[in-house]
Amino acid sequence: MLTGKHILLIIGGGIAAFKSLDLIRRMRERGAIVTPVLTKAGEEFVTPLSVSALAGSTVYRNLFDLNDEAEMGHIQLSRVSDLVVVAPATADLMGKMASGLANDLASTLLLATDTPVLIAPAMNVRMWQHAATQRNLATLKNDGVGVVGPNDGDMACGEFGPGRMAEPLEIVAAIQTHFSAGPLSGQRILVTSGPTHEPIDPVRYIANRSSGAQGTAIARALSALGAEVVFVTGPADVPPPAGVDIVHVKTAQEMLGAVEATLPVHAAVFAAAVADWRVDCASDRKLKKSKGGLPQLAFVENPDILRHIAQSKKDRPKLVVGFAAETNDVLENATAKRLRKGCDWIVANDVSTGSGVMGGAENTVIVIDEHRTETWPKMTKVEVAKRLAERMAQALA
Ligand code: CTP
Repeated sequence: MLTGKHILLIIGGGIAAFKSLDLIRRMRERGAIVTPVLTKAGEEFVTPLSVSALAGSTVYRNLFDLNDEAEMGHIQLSRVSDLVVVAPATADLMGKMASGLANDLASTLLLATDTPVLIAPAMNVRMWQHAATQRNLATLKNDGVGVVGPNDGDMACGEFGPGRMAEPLEIVAAIQTHFSAGPLSGQRILVTSGPTHEPIDPVRYIANRSSGAQGTAIARALSALGAEVVFVTGPADVPPPAGVDIVHVKTAQEMLGAVEATLPVHAAVFAAAVADWRVDCASDRKLKKSKGGLPQLAFVENPDILRHIAQSKKDRPKLVVGFAAETNDVLENATAKRLRKGCDWIVANDVSTGSGVMGGAENTVIVIDEHRTETWPKMTKVEVAKRLAERMAQALA
């Protein structure tokens, strides 16, 4: 059942749009509240009246419709739903989503939304198989977009092969799977991510090369398995994941405060690259060049957030996972680090210059726990995140 679930349905311009009318009916039969958005091209295939009548709701069509802005701005419209479904997702819509374009209502909503998105692609076989579409598909999957279909079959254009939109009941099944309780449902999990910025003066700071990609992927993977995720992030390059509680911080001290405020949690993953030191007495005025020579910066040690939480007597999460960023003697250093910090698992990675891990899309990790050491093959950060989330789900079961 989909009782009470708000679904924003974006209908793109393809012959499969007629199946979306049935999809609306199927979703509503199961208790969903459907808000439809029809693209200009979609209007060539189904009428606004039939969409609105079946959905029992206003159909949204124009980005600059003043009435709609007064009732509900497009940003708000993109956020009120529990899930955004794009069916049919045309090659054009997928391209816009993958490149972050926002030149009509549908693409603007898709760029502005912070709720999960599921697409049901539909297009000609050659268009589907084209390298550009496959590239866009990979980008969207990497961004955490769910995909259902397309299926093989005879197509309206007379060709045969993959490109037919999934059937309405298949799309409904994918929606139900999305909402079904995953193995981590009921588990509240903290994830720290990104770098920290430690101020020198109001315009300068000390930072590091962490992009936040691995932590973001972990938060997304845990959430996909049903966990309630609290994501404490420093100023990262990658956008934070959708559907999780986000707490933005800048410094290590702020991160510690935010982490403590999330307790108690069932598990915690410390993927942030926290600065070990901060400048003692950062200046509240810009440091000026002076004849007196170079400024002398004195450092003080930052709190070790992982160690503090892993060794706390009160509110220690049942499972504490740390990361070990090493440039040499990875296994030895990480094994010692696990014991020193007091965490249950440590995920060690080689961040030396040649490894491409810092800021890159791939990672080669070694997972060390009390009993064993597992070396995982080189894989994308998204794959590392999924495998780690599954391992955590088993440990917390
Ligand atoms: N960590 C933390 N707070 C800090 C420093 C690190 O919570 N002040 C966490 C990181 O999020 C990571 C783990 O500790 O999970 C190890 O971080 P890493 O930088 O590899 O180790 P350090 O403790 O900084 O040790 P070293 O610099 O000596 O390798």
